[in-house]
Amino acid sequence: MTNNASLQSRRVAAVPRGVGTAYPVFAERAENAEVWDVEGKRYVDFAGGIAVLNTGHRHPKVVAAVREQLDKFTHTCFQVLPYEPYVALAERLNALAPFKGDAKTIFFSTGAEAVENAVKIARAATGRSGVIAFTGAFHGRTMMGMSLTGKVAPYRKKFGLGVPGIFHVPFPADGVTVQESLRAMEFLFRADIEPGQVAAIIIEPVQGEGGFHPAPVELLEALRKICDDHGIVLISDEIQTGFGRTGKMFGIEASGVEPDLITVAKSLAGGFPLSGVIGKAEIMDAAEPGGLGGTYAGSPIACAAALAVLDVFEEEKLLDKANVLGEKVKAAVAKSAQRNDTVAISGIRGPGAMIAFDVMKKRGGNEPDADATKRITQAAIADGLVLLSCGVHGNTIRILVPLTVEDNVLDEGLAKLEKALIAANA
Ligand SMILES: Cc1ncc(COP(=O)(O)O)c(C=O)c1O
Repeated sequence: MTNNASLQSRRVAAVPRGVGTAYPVFAERAENAEVWDVEGKRYVDFAGGIAVLNTGHRHPKVVAAVREQLDKFTHTCFQVLPYEPYVALAERLNALAPFKGDAKTIFFSTGAEAVENAVKIARAATGRSGVIAFTGAFHGRTMMGMSLTGKVAPYRKKFGLGVPGIFHVPFPADGVTVQESLRAMEFLFRADIEPGQVAAIIIEPVQGEGGFHPAPVELLEALRKICDDHGIVLISDEIQTGFGRTGKMFGIEASGVEPDLITVAKSLAGGFPLSGVIGKAEIMDAAEPGGLGGTYAGSPIACAAALAVLDVFEEEKLLDKANVLGEKVKAAVAKSAQRNDTVAISGIRGPGAMIAFDVMKKRGGNEPDADATKRITQAAIADGLVLLSCGVHGNTIRILVPLTVEDNVLDEGLAKLEKALIAANA
């Protein structure tokens, strides 16, 4: 019999535990912000496959574009026989990216691959190797991605030493000030690596897995200056912030700071595996032909999907919608927080629709409560709401509902969220 329990026991026997799964709920089908499991139970999806579905599950325009491409060809490898959807998508992203001069774009499949390649490009452009990242950052699970990630458990645990030449500076969250971060950078330049050996500084404009903490504008401006002073490449990792989630196409746009390279993935192709590096043309051209790429990198199916995603963004004005949606979600959570029967929550935040809040042991207190956070996500899934936690203390609830969600489905999800906040208080 195919049910969640039988699939879970097959999954445990056949798939290693290293790939964690939030819930033993096996998906059968999905539409926009709703998912049905193999037992026919319906869920409101506030996770969006971890920020992949800003345009929802199976957006009709995305599905149509993919079908059309499927009927033409599915793979030639861009490095063998190139194709127009790749070039057309690069052209559109170059036009959208917040660079003053000319931009170029290269595609890959996963976010981690985009990060790997952004660092390779920065190394080629500077002739240097060092990279500076931040504590709490998440940049992927490949060797370079893991090395840049600023959280040991679970991402680096048991995997030995990372790539040499990578340094972490405290991210200004959790009581750390921008001045303290910058002072740590000064110490780093004195103690460990001179700026002239640093190829890149990589930062998420809003830390994703780290707890949805926006990078203060003051920090981004200071990083821009450090990069300008020392010829360092500034990489904005927009894999989670990208594609409209923050109410801007790219999260860093809100700060007015111009990065040198941008990594994108997740919602770029509305559910198809596609990632990319968009950057200033002169930096992007530093690598030698053949040095970048990949067999599946920039699959024609995924490029066709991404072109449709960009159309949907324009036609459905999803950037505006992200802001409206975000305000609505924040107001609902703030209202729930005022009840006296929910768990203690604080720090309701977001730019646009990248919304999160923290779960605390006591109202007005500052001790994180990871156990209560787990109780919230468990109560939510039991009630038909897919909800994700994050944060360096595991006490942040993040909301990544599709920007295309129908009003009634959003309201239903918010009501379920409130119920879960109450249930977790028991
Ligand atoms: C900011 C950021 N960078 C990189 C990655 C890695 O992306 P992927 O899981 O597609 O390799 C993620 C994934 O969550 C991310 O949020």
